Amino acid sequence: MKGGAALSVDELFVQFGDRRVLKGVNADFEPGKVTAMLGPTGCGKTTLLRCLNRLHDNRPGFQFDGRILLDGDDIYRRSSDVRELRRRVGMLFQRPNPFPQSIGENVSLGARVHGLWARQDVAGRTEAVLRDVGLWEAVSDRLKSTPFMLSGGQQQLLCLARALAVEPDVLLLDEPTSSLDPRSTARIEELISQLKERMTVVFVTHNVQQAARCADQILFMLEGEVVEFVDKDQFFANPGDARSRAYVEGRPV
Ligand SMILES: Nc1ncnc2c1ncn2[C@@H]1O[C@H](COP(=O)(O)OP(=O)(O)OP(=O)(O)O)[C@@H](O)[C@H]1O
Ligand SMILES: [Mg+2]
Repeated sequence: MKGGAALSVDELFVQFGDRRVLKGVNADFEPGKVTAMLGPTGCGKTTLLRCLNRLHDNRPGFQFDGRILLDGDDIYRRSSDVRELRRRVGMLFQRPNPFPQSIGENVSLGARVHGLWARQDVAGRTEAVLRDVGLWEAVSDRLKSTPFMLSGGQQQLLCLARALAVEPDVLLLDEPTSSLDPRSTARIEELISQLKERMTVVFVTHNVQQAARCADQILFMLEGEVVEFVDKDQFFANPGDARSRAYVEGRPV
């Protein structure tokens, strides 16, 4: 059986103050599938992604209407456990943001806090996760050092290792390779394709070729609305909306 959780967005409206940013978004993200979110700058991709693990909760002026269901449970209901939600729904941001702890602690801290790793297993599990993302060889002799001396690509892989250590059901990635070189980009793309066996994956990209390479489905947004959410092959070969074709071909939408 495939890993991952079903994530459903149901009539989601979001405003910041009087600026309407999401205008009735519906989307079903399925386990075992990778979805790429495409759309011009400012259309609401990051806002939607951040809603999926409640990262706007304390933002002044944030107004929200609609429902987001994780395996059928409303993540915004009052009794929902936000800490557990953020374990189940991991996130990788555009810029790597390691914690100011050591490289090893960046990987293990979350898993320890959530009680997932016993003390005697920490070293072995840390190594396994770092091997998983292809970073072990580069950092095995400096696990106690600061992560800030790593390259940007290595820091991003470390943040991915940190996200994977807590065994999320869903992984959200917001333009995860936009500041990376081609080699690190290829590594992240390869991981995205492998991880779908274990989790539901949603990533944002401005790189149409990257979406074509990595995604099973494409969610195309314009001005806070979903224009299309279809299989990749259909999106590229036979988009249902002229604006999708214009976007793919790099013409004004
Ligand atoms: N915290 C906030 N307060 C006020 N407005 C916001 C906030 N966050 C986002 N917005 C506005 O919401 C709109 C959508 O922003 P969002 O960051 O979701 O776009 P995006 O599709 O991710 O764009 P990009 O491709 O440039 O990253 C923008 O007009 C932005 O200014
Ligand atoms: Mg964004």
